Amino acid sequence: MTDAVFDKMGASLHTRPDHPIAIIKEAIYAYFDAAASDPARLAAGHGRSAFSKFDALHPVVPATANFDEVLVPADHVSRSPNDTYYVDDATVLRCHTSAHQSSSLRAGERAFLVTGDVYRRDSIDCSHYPVFHQMEGVRVFEKSEWEAAGLPDGTALAERELKGLLEGLAAHLFGPSAETRWVDAYFPFTHPSFELEVLFNGEWMEVLGCGVMQPAILGAAGLEEGAVSAWAFGLGLERLAMCLFQIPDIRLFWSSDPRFTKQFRAGGMGSRFKPYSKFPPCFKDVSFWQPEGKPAVSENDMCEVVRGVAGDLAEAVTLIDAFTHPKTGRASTCYRIAYRSMERSLEDEEINAVQERVRGALADGLGVELR
Ligand code: DAH
Repeated sequence: MTDAVFDKMGASLHTRPDHPIAIIKEAIYAYFDAAASDPARLAAGHGRSAFSKFDALHPVVPATANFDEVLVPADHVSRSPNDTYYVDDATVLRCHTSAHQSSSLRAGERAFLVTGDVYRRDSIDCSHYPVFHQMEGVRVFEKSEWEAAGLPDGTALAERELKGLLEGLAAHLFGPSAETRWVDAYFPFTHPSFELEVLFNGEWMEVLGCGVMQPAILGAAGLEEGAVSAWAFGLGLERLAMCLFQIPDIRLFWSSDPRFTKQFRAGGMGSRFKPYSKFPPCFKDVSFWQPEGKPAVSENDMCEVVRGVAGDLAEAVTLIDAFTHPKTGRASTCYRIAYRSMERSLEDEEINAVQERVRGALADGLGVELR
């Protein structure tokens, strides 16, 4: 793991007043607070649904919490070191806030929201960054609640409340006339599982994943299976903030440029990002032969090296060519790196030096043969 991603830990964007990620988080919290005291909901027997909120759970978690406790299968891609940052064999940087479902249930929480930074090895472009923010929601029901609601089982109540609440959330964030639709989905931790999509600028956009919690998760956390049911959801805050505030590049969330950070102070949820002058990008290609007798260098490996050297100057990394030499059988890969600062104009000399360091790190760190 490179130090670059470790440096992001503790930044806590979601707890900084006036930061767009925190503004969205607060808007969602306010929605759930209001829902908990909504007279119609109280009358329907939802009196106990005030949500505890956790914003400061540590992102370094046991791999078991991130995967096993939420029933992620042993062969699921997310377990691969190509996708998840491992601190050691048994410890990861959480790749989702679902990592806190089980421990929160074990601690006795029955309705809670967890917000935090999550980490994934990924490609480099305007909407992907190795650290982003998620919110997890969970609410447990007891048998008396679905009986009082006249429903046959806990799944029916959980699904009904989940859908109603999350449609209300979409209206709260996107406005009362926002069009939404439910799409069937698969997640290891829920069944049935759904995604909520919102029609945004003429396109259906996935806003969150959710479902009825697998009874085994409840059982393992010490609740009596069959006597309780629960819903869960998880959503990404950057995507929401980028849409709602019209923020064009995910790196901006990490910018300390006051032209960015001051923009959201007055407007809150009504803010719209006002672009300031964009500096020109600079493109550099790098071609290499994949190492022989070793696993190929993946795009995520490549991006990790570029991030490690160039930090937020790296705007995009695009695969532009890959071929296998017909005679030698060696595989060649070529990537184009776009460099651009959000804050200043870059000198050729600086970028050439960065590119040289990227090349060096690829050759020394990943064992490729540069072409
Ligand atoms: N953990 C999922 C992700 O990162 C999101 C998610 C989906 C969370 C469904 C949930 C859920 O709690 O029920 O993609």
